[in-house]
Amino acid sequence: MMNELLWIALFGAILFTCSGLLTIWAHFKKKDLLRNMGLYAVTLLGPITLGVCWKAQMQLMEADGVIWARLMSGDASIVWAIGSVGLIAGAGLALGALSLLERAKGIYVGALAFALLWVVIFLHPTPHYVPMPAWLDKLIWFALLVGGAAFCLTIYMKYRSYLKLFQLPVIIAAGLFPILALAYPAALVQVSRPLDLSQLPPDQQIKQMGCLSCHSMKGEGYPIPGEGLESVASRKEDVVRAFLADPSAENALKFGIRTNPTGDMAGVRLRDSEVDILTEALKSLFEVQPPSKLGPGWDHVEAILVEKTCLACHTYAGEGAPQGGIGGPLENASAFQEETLVEWLKKPSAENAVALKIRETPMGAMEIFALPEEQAKEAAAWLKSLAQE
Ligand code: HEC
Ligand code: HEC
Repeated sequence: MMNELLWIALFGAILFTCSGLLTIWAHFKKKDLLRNMGLYAVTLLGPITLGVCWKAQMQLMEADGVIWARLMSGDASIVWAIGSVGLIAGAGLALGALSLLERAKGIYVGALAFALLWVVIFLHPTPHYVPMPAWLDKLIWFALLVGGAAFCLTIYMKYRSYLKLFQLPVIIAAGLFPILALAYPAALVQVSRPLDLSQLPPDQQIKQMGCLSCHSMKGEGYPIPGEGLESVASRKEDVVRAFLADPSAENALKFGIRTNPTGDMAGVRLRDSEVDILTEALKSLFEVQPPSKLGPGWDHVEAILVEKTCLACHTYAGEGAPQGGIGGPLENASAFQEETLVEWLKKPSAENAVALKIRETPMGAMEIFALPEEQAKEAAAWLKSLAQE
């Protein structure tokens, strides 16, 4: 599950914590130079680590969607967020401490950290779940940063003389907050183990797995890009199960889930047991339709079989016309070429039965059950798929 950037982020977080602790120790030992170096390290490591971590997250989403989702909104999301808070707050406090201690230098470092943070945000790809264009996302961050810096500077200029009072608490806080960055490794240890879903109620199973990082459910979660999970109410159970087992863009198209799939769920690779549990959870939360007889993705064909009463003269999976019917089991048809089947279904006349080598002495009983081209193609594709089973 670990990518290189994630290792770098972890290393950064640990170094960040150590720098914080060094700050406190050096302050009480009256080693001013060492203390200031600790504060500089905290100020600069914060934004760098955060930036690397953001980038690592994006890679993780594509490579290991379940881990990503559990960190973003699942069982490990609070711990993960505490790590980010530690980095942001730690860096900010260290910067504050430096400005109080070493005015001019502190402000230089502040400008440098500010520039770093801006580069980080600029490079940071706007995640797909942020409901705004990338340029607006970056503009908002820019405004927040510049606004924040201007605000701090104003306070500093106005209340310079009183701020001395805060020196000690700010240094201590700047040393302690970085400990929170250890939540990063803690969260990663947590997600490295599969989640035990069996003890949880259905809605918690979905939430703790982090599915709501990309879906909404009863108004909760991010509806981009997966939209509301409520839509499963119109799906058949076997379609839901088959899609969860392999949520590729290709399958989303094949099973009729989206006409324009994003493929964003393709990185979400669930274990077989998780597919079963989550299918059951969705079934109990939304009224998922019973499984189709023909298997996932063949809803149209199933409708055709019903509408044209094909099973009055044929059988499928042993069901349908008594004693195999006059047309015989549909499974036999998989022996023909797909093109032959399309031609036949479009015009199932006695002459065609001979011409296409379907029967030597045909009955011609199927003639009035001809299918239009589109339906003939779909039905032929299904008949061919029966050979693989
Ligand atoms: C990284 C984003 C992402 C995550 C995480 C994610 N999904 Fe999806 N999901 C999608 C997208 C996008 C689609 C629509 C298919 C497409 O566009 O490729 C989808 C489709 C679905 C569908 C079919 C919806 C329908 O209309 O029938 C189900 C069911 C589903 N997801 C369940 C889950 C579950 C359960 C989880 C948690 C284990 C999960 N998803 C996690 C992005 C995600
Ligand atoms: C009234 C009875 C009847 C109905 C309804 C019927 N068929 Fe047939 N079907 C036949 C007969 C009989 C044959 C053999 C050709 C002949 O004797 O004309 C046949 C042959 C076929 C074949 C050729 C391959 C094989 O197994 O021998 C396919 C494929 C087929 N039918 C599919 C369908 C489909 C799909 C439907 C529904 C759209 C359908 N049939 C509806 C009677 C029927």
